[in-house]
Amino acid sequence: GPAITLPDTRFSFEGFFGVYDRGSLQRGFQVYKEVCSACHAMRQLSYRNLLEIGLTEAQVRAIAATFQVVDGPNDQGEMFERPARLSDRFRRPFANEQAARAANNGAYPPDLSVMVKARLNGADYMHALLTGYRDPPAGFQLMDGMNYNAYFPGHQIAMPNVLNPGQVEYADRTEATVDQMARDVTTFMAWAAEPEAEKRRAMGIRIILFLIILGGLTYAVKRKVWADVK
Ligand code: HEM
Repeated sequence: GPAITLPDTRFSFEGFFGVYDRGSLQRGFQVYKEVCSACHAMRQLSYRNLLEIGLTEAQVRAIAATFQVVDGPNDQGEMFERPARLSDRFRRPFANEQAARAANNGAYPPDLSVMVKARLNGADYMHALLTGYRDPPAGFQLMDGMNYNAYFPGHQIAMPNVLNPGQVEYADRTEATVDQMARDVTTFMAWAAEPEAEKRRAMGIRIILFLIILGGLTYAVKRKVWADVK
């Protein structure tokens, strides 16, 4: 089909001085937890990683404890469920791909851990996708159980529209518009895929500052050493 032009969304983490907005990360996790995690895993993340987005250890322990994870085998050789701990990976919604497909009309909701990096212009794409549900244009043949999306390749996607105004009630009282929720969960997924990006940029900035200062010192020393030589 014809190429799809993605709207360019501004994110705090873009550009040379970009950082992940901590408020947005925490809201994004809330959206993931309350909406997306019903169908999508994020297996690269463990609960302890949430300490990095500014939640306290007590908060993270409380969050983890609300999830039951499978452990074992115990002394009797049995598997059992227990509340998650900091070291556990995020609980996945389905035991395996087959179960995931069975619950989703045959389609597979992919793991979202590195999705932002797996798609071209991943952050813009994710935001566009989540805000891109429309009525199909006249004459568009939508297959059974599929949804029209302006930004999904081919425009037919098995994932329904999941973000409606007020879908979550943000802990920090930010108004949960569709745009806001899409931005926040995209920020969270971008961080999940590349948590070290802002540290790398900060290091780059320090290196450049160092080189500027070194250059200035070198120049000053050179002037001093050669001051008497005409
Ligand atoms: C696909 C994100 C909620 C079911 C996808 C894709 C992304 C995504 C990025 C991949 C699109 C691509 O391949 O380019 C999200 C986010 C959610 C969310 C951020 C929460 C805000 C859900 C929910 C369900 C679901 C709640 C189930 C009711 C699916 C399915 C697919 C999919 C079945 C595969 C679509 C296809 O290949 O046609 N989702 N999703 N998603 N999602 Fe979600």
